[in-house]
Amino acid sequence: MMAEEGVAGGSRSAGRGPAFLVPDQLERSRLRRRMLVGNWKMNQPADVSEYLQQISSRAATLSSISVAIAPPATLLAQISRSRDILAAGQDCHKSASGPFTGAVSAALLRHAGASLVLIGHSERRAEGDTDQTVRSKLERAWAAGLTPILCVGETMADVQRGLVGSRVAAQVLAGVPEDEPSAPLIVAYEPVWAIGTGRTPTQEEVGAAAAAIRQALRKRISIRAEQTTILYGGSVTPTSVLALCGVSDIDGFLVGSASLSASDIVSIMEAIAS
Ligand code: 13P
Repeated sequence: MMAEEGVAGGSRSAGRGPAFLVPDQLERSRLRRRMLVGNWKMNQPADVSEYLQQISSRAATLSSISVAIAPPATLLAQISRSRDILAAGQDCHKSASGPFTGAVSAALLRHAGASLVLIGHSERRAEGDTDQTVRSKLERAWAAGLTPILCVGETMADVQRGLVGSRVAAQVLAGVPEDEPSAPLIVAYEPVWAIGTGRTPTQEEVGAAAAAIRQALRKRISIRAEQTTILYGGSVTPTSVLALCGVSDIDGFLVGSASLSASDIVSIMEAIAS
């Protein structure tokens, strides 16, 4: 694959279709990468500068993991100026541009310094994102050169009906188009019932869901499925992460409320790196 210098400390893979900005940290290893993504949702730490200082100085010493923060879009530029921390959008619009008051396009996220973007988070799906919207957003992310983090996960009703594997597989198949063999992709498995509840699935449950995700990825992107980073998200804390670090198909974590605390994020980074 040919590569040319990117615009924000990454490299672009050139070829058919858009140029993808692959952050240096992800480019260093084309294989599955240990990763921590903090999703601040519609919140921010009391002192953003102090927070960034704390986590970037620790991230600099843990080169085996990639650390990203998905802040509200208003803070993306500040995050992107931090050494050793990648900036991620929390969502993007399904259109490239236009009269969509309050919305942010993938290209604008990239312009603000993002190299990644969450797509299909359950909180966006709950606000009306369909599988088709999710796929359109994912394609917009690629067109803007961002690495999408496709979020999938089942509800408690799915669990009770034994539909976890089929639900997450269907979301992967619906969200990922077949015809972009060189496009970067990360998948986050986030059971809806585990988000913000303090409840987490067992290692076995996470492993089974991740295996179903990877099997669905094989259908879409063939051999690259083995190299796709899969994250777990849902009530991850410095304590709960310890049980989940051992799941072989899970490469890292997507952390909500605990990511607002620098000391919690540092503890989770250390658990992933050890
Ligand atoms: P919590 O870690 O607060 O459960 O949130 C998870 C999440 O939704 C991350 O995207």
